[in-house]
Amino acid sequence: MKSGLSALIHPHTIEEFFASYELNEPFVVHDNNEHMKVIRDLPFLESLEKLLTSWPSLIQAHLPDVRDESSSIDTNTKDAQKLFNNGMGLLFNETQTISPLLVEWLEEIKKNLGLSAMTYARCLVYATPDGKGTAPHFDQNINFVYQVHGTKVWHMAPNTDLENPLTRHTMGTMPDPEMMGYLEAPLPTKMPANAETYELKPGSILFVPRGYWHSTEAEGDALALNFTFTAPTWLDLFTAALRSRLAMSPDWRETANGVSDPDFRHLAEKKFDLLLGSLVQDLPHWRAGDILDAIEPQEN
Ligand SMILES: [Fe+2]
Repeated sequence: MKSGLSALIHPHTIEEFFASYELNEPFVVHDNNEHMKVIRDLPFLESLEKLLTSWPSLIQAHLPDVRDESSSIDTNTKDAQKLFNNGMGLLFNETQTISPLLVEWLEEIKKNLGLSAMTYARCLVYATPDGKGTAPHFDQNINFVYQVHGTKVWHMAPNTDLENPLTRHTMGTMPDPEMMGYLEAPLPTKMPANAETYELKPGSILFVPRGYWHSTEAEGDALALNFTFTAPTWLDLFTAALRSRLAMSPDWRETANGVSDPDFRHLAEKKFDLLLGSLVQDLPHWRAGDILDAIEPQEN
């Protein structure tokens, strides 16, 4: 029996998936029942009621006004059912904490994708009431959605406005300060006209590429399990390596004194320039292999 990535994309091959993955395009599979049975048979995925009785911690309920994760409250399992009946979507975060099998699958998929050991991998279950869903947005993570119960319609469009976003963004809201710094033009406020529609039914799998615009709507009450990966970028790997390298130096570990004092600012700048000068001398000797050997040792 297949597991991990090869189970998710069955009957397609890993090569077919990667051809699409490299283009940052969605990948959809329907009626994937045979190899997903082991996940489908997890007792807590039998129904929302079953999940609520198995769940040991708080649940995020999404307020119906914005239809977005950024507008949510934490609730207990008792109130969650009532909120769901009143049209609020529920999010069970880190679902792998109640299932060693999900932990194994997350680890396997992460390896299959070739992602860093520093990747934050987690499962999420979304319970969505009939007619509800999420407003158009993109996420910075990469995501596989497994539709367990009900029908969910996904509208998806390539993000031609912003390549490789570092955080999520919902249309019509303010981008975060870091995103404002690298945005070249304002982001759209409605779904692009070339959006495609995917109808997920029980047994459907959808790969949602990083940064891809999407909005969703449930037709009938729906339950979906997500395998979500927040993987480090080159920027993350470099800054992690830079920090551990510089932390070896007592001079770099020194408190940045005087930077906000007009009388001492010039001395602070002089000191900082000396440190930058020493880094410039060191950088030509940096090799990707050395950095990766330190932070990402290969298994033999
Ligand atoms: Fe999303």
